[in-house]
Amino acid sequence: MKSVEIISMGRYVPERIVTNNDLAKIVDTSDEWITTRTGIKERRIAADEEKTSDMAIKASQEAIIRGQFDPQEIDLIIVATTTADSAFPAMACLVQQAIGAKKAATFDIAAACSGFLYALTTAKQFLVSGMYKNALVVAADKMSKVMDWNDRATCVLFGDGAAAYLIQTTDKPNVGIVSDFMLGLGEYSDYMQIIAEEIKPLEQKNIMVRNPYVVMKGPELFKVAVNSMAEAVDIAAKKAGITLDQIACVIPHQANDRIIQAVAKKLGAPKEKVFVNIEKYGNMSAASVAIALYEAVESGAVKKGDYVALVVFGAGLVSAANIIKW
Ligand code: ACO
Repeated sequence: MKSVEIISMGRYVPERIVTNNDLAKIVDTSDEWITTRTGIKERRIAADEEKTSDMAIKASQEAIIRGQFDPQEIDLIIVATTTADSAFPAMACLVQQAIGAKKAATFDIAAACSGFLYALTTAKQFLVSGMYKNALVVAADKMSKVMDWNDRATCVLFGDGAAAYLIQTTDKPNVGIVSDFMLGLGEYSDYMQIIAEEIKPLEQKNIMVRNPYVVMKGPELFKVAVNSMAEAVDIAAKKAGITLDQIACVIPHQANDRIIQAVAKKLGAPKEKVFVNIEKYGNMSAASVAIALYEAVESGAVKKGDYVALVVFGAGLVSAANIIKW
């Protein structure tokens, strides 16, 4: 069977940095509460006119330039997002247009914070089957536009960002994305939702409606998150035919540092093997693990030949894990 390798990557985060102290000026919270409960110190918030697609495009452009890759060679673009500029067109079409990938098929995937790994695994299937050779997988979320900025329990947790990866088939055996795992746990679908007022069909009166916003059952999510992420890594490692101690770096979804540490404990992974960047960004939904992988590679936490475990959970609930031989 063919293998699928990551051949290039890009990342984009907005310039605006919002610290915990900045948030304490708009909701009843404190740097001390946010830091001790979550590990977050600051997050990036997109400029008002900066859209999810703008971030997705900038990350994609970096991946293409870095990989010195001809966009005409891209067969497939998948964007993982739940904060698209609008329900349609797909963000993948906007990325395609901006980068000039004229021959690519394009669609989006909605799997909340698990979106990047769902998109990566989906793209991989098109490549392994032989249908396509090159794909661009993008994760982009502008969580700031779906926040209730009066709700201190949610608005302190999230941020905005994007990352993009070019992946390609290779005849080398057992390299690149060596195993995949995805699971839906629909029974927990009410733990985290974006809710919106319904507009009544054929009625023109309800023009003023509130923007959709996130509601969350934080403590309930916490428990399911820990169990589902630890289990996902375990299953993905078994599918890859490796033991947990062969994994050089675990890169988990960055929702809460306490969740990350609890997952690490369950896996028996020492602190230095677990990559954390939540303090700089908060939870950027689909983009979180994608940006964390980029930064883990850049910082030298992931080296050539290392086994890396990517693991996520998100609203749905949906969880996923991939083992990558870097
Ligand atoms: N500042 C100060 N106090 C706060 C804040 C805040 N920002 N938010 C909540 N509180 C208060 C609550 O009102 C509560 O007060 P009370 O005891 O007087 O009622 C108290 O702090 C404790 O609240 P808890 O919700 O019990 O706090 P907990 O320790 O569980 O931490 C948190 C909350 C951080 C949300 C945690 O439960 C968590 O991280 N859960 C998982 C969230 C998550 O992973 N979300 C995303 C997953 S899916 C995805 O990423 C798309």
